[in-house]
Amino acid sequence: MISDRVSADQTSTFPRFLDLAYPNIESAEGVWLSTTRGAKILDACSGGAMVSNLGHGAPDIVQAGARQAERIAYFYMDHFTNEPQEELAALLVAVAAPEMARVRFGSSGSEANETALRLARAYHVDRGEPARWRVISPAQAYHGSTMATLALSGRKHTLQEPYTPYLSHHLHIAPSTWRFDVTGEAALRELDQRLEEAGPETIAAFFCEPVSGAALPAYSSPDKFWLGLHQRREKHGFLICFDEVVTGMGRVGSWFAYQQLPIEPDIVTIGKGLGAGYAPISAVLCKQHVYDAVERGSRFFDLGHTWDGAPISCATGLAVLNAMIDQRLIERVRERGPRLLEQLQAALHGNPIVAEVRGRGFLLGIDLVDLPEEMHADERVEDIALGRGLLVTTTHSTQDGYAGDEVVFAPAFTSSDGELDMMIERLAATLGDVASR
Ligand SMILES: Cc1ncc(COP(=O)(O)O)c(C=O)c1O
Repeated sequence: MISDRVSADQTSTFPRFLDLAYPNIESAEGVWLSTTRGAKILDACSGGAMVSNLGHGAPDIVQAGARQAERIAYFYMDHFTNEPQEELAALLVAVAAPEMARVRFGSSGSEANETALRLARAYHVDRGEPARWRVISPAQAYHGSTMATLALSGRKHTLQEPYTPYLSHHLHIAPSTWRFDVTGEAALRELDQRLEEAGPETIAAFFCEPVSGAALPAYSSPDKFWLGLHQRREKHGFLICFDEVVTGMGRVGSWFAYQQLPIEPDIVTIGKGLGAGYAPISAVLCKQHVYDAVERGSRFFDLGHTWDGAPISCATGLAVLNAMIDQRLIERVRERGPRLLEQLQAALHGNPIVAEVRGRGFLLGIDLVDLPEEMHADERVEDIALGRGLLVTTTHSTQDGYAGDEVVFAPAFTSSDGELDMMIERLAATLGDVASR
């Protein structure tokens, strides 16, 4: 019998944190997780990683995967294609991302971002510019845990160490937050400096989240920055890759976050919400001109992963996309989001440890004031929240100096108004407790 809380000395798994006893989750329905001890936890972060956007246990999605598994669950897309893959790609570019032309599927967000990197590189090589390989990106970011995607972040202390010997040397700029540059002008100046130092003819891409997920929840650069970035792309010929692993598939109230900004990417990635926790599936989408470069050049974009475009994952992704259309979930997030932000701001008003409350759609973030490192405010928030029956996620990137402690509040799109109210109540009580301690 496995116990209700599993610590490192009681398990054959290799846990992430060896000093943590992990509660054992048995089942879930909607936004309620049940532990083996019978405790109920209200899930205010879509499975903890902004994935389960349709809540847990959605019967239509489960059945779509099961029906596909009965026909055929898996084969390798190097040899064949299949109807769910074809249909999902067609529906994505017809409905969700009409600005894009082609889709390549993968399983995880890291895989999608690595594929985006390879595609940016292939684009330049196929157009006769092999010197372009370097990437510029905002430092306060997370794009995945593979060596190539880890190198895209500038968070040396909190993410990259001790793996730095394996990481390519890319270039970074500070984010335009209140800490550095509220207007976006300093970030553009830094971008110009990086271009100058490296030589613009060596730059393959600018890589970033258009609206940040966990690294700076719900933060987006000022429009001035996006407009300036677009001008520099026109002038210098690099590509813009957007990581929408968190924000893609409706999280901020539009299918893609870039659809709310004055800029479009050449390449964009999605992950988490595409399978919504029912299958591991991600995708890279690109514009026609990116595809054309490969079509007119080498005519292949090889390398991939065993599960790319597998029938069971694509059938599940297709069911998720159809559920979002049928249940009008983009509209729900767009319409309910502003009030959710107002509710959260009102509930946290006057709390001395809250510096800023941000939000777009169902992606909300709380920036805590800078607290002493040894307080581990992030861990306290998660522990106290769990004690109050609430799941939220935090980040602690203080050591790198680009941001402090952040709390992510990202409920499922299917949460009822009553459940949203209860999540806010529990979160406000949690942060009240942290402040008073
Ligand atoms: C913005 C962003 N990009 C990429 C990833 C990596 O996705 P995965 O963990 O599925 O590889 C994450 C994961 O949290 C993420 O938040």
